Amino acid sequence: MSHDPQAALEATRLRRLIEDANYRYYVLDDPAITDADYDLALRALEKLETEHPHLRTPDSPTQRVGIAVSGTFDPVRHAVPMLSLANAFTDEEVKDFVRRIEERLDWREPSFSVEPKFDGLAISLRYEDGVFVRGATRGDGAVGEDVSANLRTVRNLPLRLRGDDVPSLIEVRGEIVMPRADFLAYNRKMLESGGKPLANPRNGAAGSLRQLDPRITAQRPLRFYAYGLNLPAESEGVEAALPFERHSQALEKLREWGFTITELARIATGSEGLLEYYRGIGERRDGLPFDIDGVVYKLDSLAGQREMGHVSRAPRWALAHKFPAQEQATRLEAIDVQIGRTGAVTPVARLAPVQVGGVVVTNATLHNADQIARLGVRIGDTVIVRRAGDVIPEIVRVEGAGREGDSQPWAMPAQCPVCNAELVKDEDGVAWRCSGGLSCPAQRNESLRHFASRRAMDIEGLGERYIEDLAGFGYVRSVADLYRLTLDDLLEMKRRADERDGTTPEHVVKSGAKAGKVASKWAENLLSAIDASRNAQLARLLFALGIRHVGESTAKALAQWFGDLETIRHLPWPLFKRVPDIGGEVARSLGHFFDQTGNQQVIDGLLEAGVRIADAHVPSPRLRDGLDFAVLLADCDIPKLTTVRAAQVAVAFGDAQSLIDTAEHNLVTAGLPAETASAFVAWRETPSNAALLVRADAARRELLENLPQADAASRPLEGVTAVLTGTLSALTRDEAKEKLEALGAKVAGSVSKKTGFVVAGDAAGSKLDKARELGIQVWDEARLLAYLQAPASLA
Ligand code: IVH
Repeated sequence: MSHDPQAALEATRLRRLIEDANYRYYVLDDPAITDADYDLALRALEKLETEHPHLRTPDSPTQRVGIAVSGTFDPVRHAVPMLSLANAFTDEEVKDFVRRIEERLDWREPSFSVEPKFDGLAISLRYEDGVFVRGATRGDGAVGEDVSANLRTVRNLPLRLRGDDVPSLIEVRGEIVMPRADFLAYNRKMLESGGKPLANPRNGAAGSLRQLDPRITAQRPLRFYAYGLNLPAESEGVEAALPFERHSQALEKLREWGFTITELARIATGSEGLLEYYRGIGERRDGLPFDIDGVVYKLDSLAGQREMGHVSRAPRWALAHKFPAQEQATRLEAIDVQIGRTGAVTPVARLAPVQVGGVVVTNATLHNADQIARLGVRIGDTVIVRRAGDVIPEIVRVEGAGREGDSQPWAMPAQCPVCNAELVKDEDGVAWRCSGGLSCPAQRNESLRHFASRRAMDIEGLGERYIEDLAGFGYVRSVADLYRLTLDDLLEMKRRADERDGTTPEHVVKSGAKAGKVASKWAENLLSAIDASRNAQLARLLFALGIRHVGESTAKALAQWFGDLETIRHLPWPLFKRVPDIGGEVARSLGHFFDQTGNQQVIDGLLEAGVRIADAHVPSPRLRDGLDFAVLLADCDIPKLTTVRAAQVAVAFGDAQSLIDTAEHNLVTAGLPAETASAFVAWRETPSNAALLVRADAARRELLENLPQADAASRPLEGVTAVLTGTLSALTRDEAKEKLEALGAKVAGSVSKKTGFVVAGDAAGSKLDKARELGIQVWDEARLLAYLQAPASLA
C-alpha cells in the first residue's frame, strides 16, 4: 500500500468538488456541473479509494451505499428528546396560542418562524466535528432506531458540513420526505413492471428508511429537509453558546452548513400574520413538490422559547396548524367501470360522500382490475380515500377492521355499461377494453376521427372540431350517420355552434346572395368529400373501422386474402389465422369486433347509406392449402391439441359436429392420449366453444366452395413464373401479383432462364434488360390487362 501524498491531495480535491456539486444542486438549487462530470468525479474518487484504501473515510461521498444490517436497527437514545407539537385546527386555537405567549412573556406581537409541516418521517442527525456520525428515527421521543446506513444514501443529506463555525457536537432535526413527482414516477414504474406500488409519499419515505439493505433505500427518491438545531447538553462548556438568538438564524446557519431548508419558511407577526401564512400555504398546497399536512409556528426568539418551556411532550412555544386531512375513511358503495375514448376500462369506486382535504369526494379511481385485487377491496368495505394535489382521488387501502360481514367481492362486468358490447382483457393481461369500437358512444368521437383520417376513408375537411360538434349536437351517432348528412344538417350545426361560442356567423356580417354562398361553401365541400369516400377500397374500409390491432398492413392482407367485406365480417376468428402474419391476438380481436351486434349494425348502416366496396373480389386461391379441418382444429387454441393431435382427430371424425357429438372414449379409441381427450371434452363443454367450432367448420366449407376452381382451365398459369417490374398504372403491383397468382402463376422477384414472362411497367430497369438479354417474353401493361380479361394457356 503506497501512502502517495499526491493521491491524498487528489482525493481531497475530488471530495470537495463532489460535495460542492451536491450543495449547489440540492441546497442552492443552482447546479454548477453536469451530471456527467459529477459521475466522472465520483468514479475517479472511487478508483482512487480502491487503490489507496486508507484514503476511504466514512464521510466520503463514495460511502453513501453501505452493506445491509442484520436483523434489527440498534436503539439510540436521543441526546435531546424529540418532542411533538400541539395541534390546532381552528383560527381560535391559533389566537389562543399567540395570546398565551404574549401574556406569559409580556410581549406584544411576537414574531414567529413559520414553516410548512412536512408530512414525512422525523429524523435526528448527530454530527461530531462536522462529520455525520449517526441518524435515528423519533421512536418514542426518548429512544429511536439507528437508521444511519439508510440515511447516508439520501443524496442531499450532508455527510460533512461546510464552514469552520460548526460546533463540535450538534443534533440536527428534520424530515425525510419523498417528493411527489418522484413518488408518482416510482409507482408508475412499479405498476408497469408488476411490482408493488407505494401507498403514498409518507409511507414511501417511512418504508424506505426501514429497509435492512441500504441498496434498496438508495433507489428510493428521498430528501432531507432540516428544521431544527440542538446543542446537546454534553457539549455545554466545551462549546460557546451558538452565535445567534433566533430560530430563523439557526435555519440560515443550517443552510450555510449544507442542509436543504425549505424556501417556504417566513417570519410572521401576530395571529393575523400566522393565519395569513396558513391560508397562503393552503392555497399553494396542491402545487408543492412534497406533501405537507399543515404549517408550524415557532416563536422565533430562542430566549423566548427557553422561557416558555414545555408541557409534557410538546413545547409551549410552537404550534402545528393542521390542514384538513388528505386521507379519510369512508364506505365503498359500489364499483362502476368507465370507458375511455379508446375503449380502455377504468374501475371507479362510488363512495359514501366524505370530506377529503376540504373537498367532498364521492368517486375515486381504482386504476385497473389488478389494483382491486391487490388492495383486496370488496363492495361494502371501509376504505381509505386519498386526495393529494391535482390528482384524481384514489383508494389507498382497506381499513383493516372495517370489513363487515356483508361485503361483496367485485368482478369485471362482462359487458360495456355504455354500449353493451363485450369487455375483453388486453394482451398485457392487466387492462380491459370495450370491443364495441364503432358503436360505443364513449368511443364515438375517436372512432369518427379515425374513420375520416387520411389513411382511412380520407374525408377531407372533417376535422376534430366538426366531429365534436356533429356528435355533440346529435347529428352523428356513428360513422354510418356521416353518409346521411344533408346540407341543412351541416348549416344548422354551424349555426348552433356559432351561437354557443358567441361568434357571429359570416352570413350575418356580409349580406346578399354572395355571403350565403360563402357560408355554405365549406358544407358543400364536406358533403362532396364524404360522398367521394362512398366508393371505398376494402383495405381502407377495414382499417377505418378501427379494430384493435388492425393497422393498414393487416387490413391490406385481410382484403387480399378474403376479398370481400361480407366474407370477413362473418368469419369466425380462428379462420383469420389463415392470413400469414395474423396470429391469435389479432384474430381474436377481429372476432371480438365482428361479434358485437352494435358493430355489425353500424356496418349495415354504412352499406345502407351507399358505401360500396370498389375492389371486392373472390378469396385468394392460396387459401385452399389452409382450409382443411385439421388446420382449423389446430387454429382453435384447444388445450393440449397439438397440430399432430389435431390431424389425428380430423382424420377420424371429419367434421365439427361429429367431433362435438362423439363420446370421450371414442376419442381415445381414435388414438388420442386420455389427457388430451379429456381436455378436449372439457373445452367443448363450454357452449360457446362448441358453437365456435361448428360455425368455423361451416365457414371453412363455404370458403372452400367459393374459391376459384383450381383446374387447368381456371389456372392456365399453373407452373409459370412471372416477374413484375416498373410501375403499373391501372393496378398496383400487389394487385397484379394477386391476380396472376389466382391464375396459378408464381410471381418471382428476379429474372432467370426459368422465367415465363416479364410484365414491364413504366421506368422498368435492369430486370427488363435481363429479360431481353435472355430472350424472355416481355408484356406491357396493356397486354397484361388484356390477358387478365381473357386468360388462356400460354402454350
Ligand atoms: S419542529 C419541538 N418543524 O411534526 C418541535 N416539526 O407533530 C419539534 N414536522 O415529529 C418539531 N414539519 O415530524 C417541526 N417544520 C417542522 C415540521 C415538523 C414536520 C413534524 C415532525 C414532528 C411532528 C410533530
